[in-house]
Amino acid sequence: MIDNVIRTFKNLDNKDFRLLTGIELGMKDFEWVPVEEVKKFTKYPYKTLHHKLRLLMKNNLVIGTNLPYEGYQIYFDGYDALALNTFVKRGTISAIGVEIGVGKESVVHEAIKEPELSIGEPTPVIIKFHREGRTSFTQVKRVREHLAYREHFSWIYAARLSAKREYDIMKMLYPRVSIPKPIDHNRHAFVMAVAKGSLLAKTRLLDPEWFLDKIISQIMITYSFGVIHADLSEYNIFVYECGVQFIDWPQYINLDHPQADDLLKRDVFNVLAFFKRKYGIKRNTDDVVAYIKSKQ
Ligand SMILES: Nc1ncnc2c1ncn2[C@@H]1O[C@H](COP(=O)(O)OP(=O)(O)O)[C@@H](O)[C@H]1O
Ligand SMILES: [Mg+2]
Repeated sequence: MIDNVIRTFKNLDNKDFRLLTGIELGMKDFEWVPVEEVKKFTKYPYKTLHHKLRLLMKNNLVIGTNLPYEGYQIYFDGYDALALNTFVKRGTISAIGVEIGVGKESVVHEAIKEPELSIGEPTPVIIKFHREGRTSFTQVKRVREHLAYREHFSWIYAARLSAKREYDIMKMLYPRVSIPKPIDHNRHAFVMAVAKGSLLAKTRLLDPEWFLDKIISQIMITYSFGVIHADLSEYNIFVYECGVQFIDWPQYINLDHPQADDLLKRDVFNVLAFFKRKYGIKRNTDDVVAYIKSKQ
C-alpha cells in the first residue's frame, strides 16, 4: 500500500495536495464530498479538477461515485500521502525508505531526517502509520454497495485517535522511560527515533538475567508515572548493549483503569514466560508484580 504512495508521491504537486485536503475537509460534512464542494475549495476549473481527480483515482488515493451524485472520498493511500507531505513540509523528514515492520494495526517505515541547520549527517528515523479500523479494498467495495458509508470511514478517526494517543504518551514518558524519542505527529502517523538495538524476540542474549532486570525496572518506572504498557511482549521490546527500550504504546492504560492490576500482571507474565521458554529463567509473576508495586 505504502509502496504505491511512495511511487505516486513524487508525481503529486501542490494542486493535488490541495485537492486531497479539500476532500479531506469535506468528509467532515459529507460521506461523499460533492464535486461542487471540491471545486469551491480548490477554485480549479472543472477541466483541471476532473483531470486531477481521474489521476488520483487511478492511483488509488481517492475513490469516487456517480450515484446519487458525483462525489469523492479520500482513500487510505491519499491519507498517507497527506501525512507524508506534512512531515516533508515541516522538515521532519526528507525522504521515506523501506518498510521495516507491518502489524495488524500499523505499517512502519524507515525515513530520513535532514540535520538541523544543515550541520552534520542526515539521520534515519521511523514513521509509524496507524491502521486501526481499516478494512480491505474488497470489504470497502462491498460496504459501498450496501451504502454503509459511516462504518467504512470510521477507520480515519480510529487511526487518527490511536496515533495521537501513542504520540502523546510517548511525549509524556520520554526520556524518563527508555523509549525511542517521539519527534512529530500528523493525522494517523507519527515520527520517532529508531529504537536502539534489536527486537528481544530476534536476539540471542548472553546475559538474559541482566536484561530481564532492566525490563522489570522499566515496567516499574512506567508504573511510577501512573502508566501500564498493557501490550508488553518480546515483540515490543528492543535490547541493546546498555539496556532496553519499549515500543508500541497505543493500548497503554492508567492505573485507575478497572483492569489495571490484571494488565500489569499480564505484561509481567508475558515477559517472564518468554524468559522461561527461551532461557530457562524461572521467576514468579506475583512476586515480580509485588516487587514493582512495593517500590512506588
Ligand atoms: N522506533 C522503532 N525503531 C525500530 N523499529 C521499530 C520502531 N517502531 C516499530 N518498529 C518495528 O515495527 C514493528 C511494528 O511496530 P509496533 O509499534 O510494534 O506496531 P504494531 O502495533 O503493529 O505491533 C515492530 O515490531 C518493530 O519491528
Ligand atoms: Mg508491536
